[in-house]
Amino acid sequence: MTAATTVTVTGAAGQIGYALLFRIASGAMLGDRPVRLRLLEIPQAVGAAEGTAMELADAAFPLLESVDVFDDPSAAFDGTEFALLVGARPRTAGMERGDLLAANAGIFGPQGRAINDRASDAVRVLVVGNPANTNALIAAAHAPDVPAERFTAMTRLDHNRALAQLGAKLGVGVGRLSRMTVWGNHSSTQVPDPAHVLLDGEPVGFDPAWVAGEFAPTVATRGAAIIDARGASSAASAASAAIDHLHDWVLGTRDGDWVSVALPSRGEYDVPEGLVSSFPATSAGGEWRVVDGLELSPAVRTALDASVAELAAERDAVRALGLLP
Ligand code: NAI
Repeated sequence: MTAATTVTVTGAAGQIGYALLFRIASGAMLGDRPVRLRLLEIPQAVGAAEGTAMELADAAFPLLESVDVFDDPSAAFDGTEFALLVGARPRTAGMERGDLLAANAGIFGPQGRAINDRASDAVRVLVVGNPANTNALIAAAHAPDVPAERFTAMTRLDHNRALAQLGAKLGVGVGRLSRMTVWGNHSSTQVPDPAHVLLDGEPVGFDPAWVAGEFAPTVATRGAAIIDARGASSAASAASAAIDHLHDWVLGTRDGDWVSVALPSRGEYDVPEGLVSSFPATSAGGEWRVVDGLELSPAVRTALDASVAELAAERDAVRALGLLP
């Protein structure tokens, strides 16, 4: 019997947590290996997380070895191999951007330190909680003993939303599409770029006017459209994207395909080193590799520069607040 893998999920009592935990326990994320779940919540939500743990037990997943609930990050990340950082401080009415960044630095700094001190040497981290890219940068900065590339942020939902729009436009299932790219920040400045997309392995080519005027704005504002329709923000689709991200990281991307992942830049595509920006990437052997050599259209280049400027401004604001070590 394979040894169980330890997975920690923060924000476990939230709506994404509720959709995510059951899919991890079912084997959708890591395949056919037993898992030990460790749920981290703030003290006020521990009771709700305990309720979710009861339901996980009641689902009788054959692969689920144990579920434990914590309100202390050090305990929650002890020995963890996969950390899904979902819990974050949402923006509330009247909150300035600096206050939001500071509140989240107060969460992701200590969690990064706890990962550094207590997690498995093999730990891999996905930050979902917003502002996800900068929260990942903060967590990585507090974990000097963990290779920076183990900290990633989620743009897979944007990637999947883009595939859905392209599939609808072409009248095909998304499984026939490959090589979609989302560049930059997981924010309204994100750059969905279908220029390299293949249908059944063949180039498609989309009208630039449609991409700029319809496709990209639809993808970038899809979260707001879901809130309008559902009365609550995307949850199951966000959880599904988190599953896809880790599944592909561990088990590899499809042959000939790539996906969108926010990773600490090593200077690829002139994104300043260290900023956590979304790139097209493949995974093999548990390591992401940014796809190199893609040609960017002038419009994509300009939009990516603006998104990167936003990432740099977020990092500089956190640094100015003295929240980066
Ligand atoms: P939610 O409000 O339903 O749940 C968040 C949970 O996090 C709450 O239960 C809260 O108690 C918990 N939490 C807060 N601070 C915590 C801490 N320090 N430690 C542990 N838990 C903590 O929110 P939801 O809908 O589950 O979304 C979670 C986050 O994911 C939000 O920041 C949201 O903006 C973000 N998000 C990111 C997406 C992406 O594509 N990157 C997509 C959708 C949502």
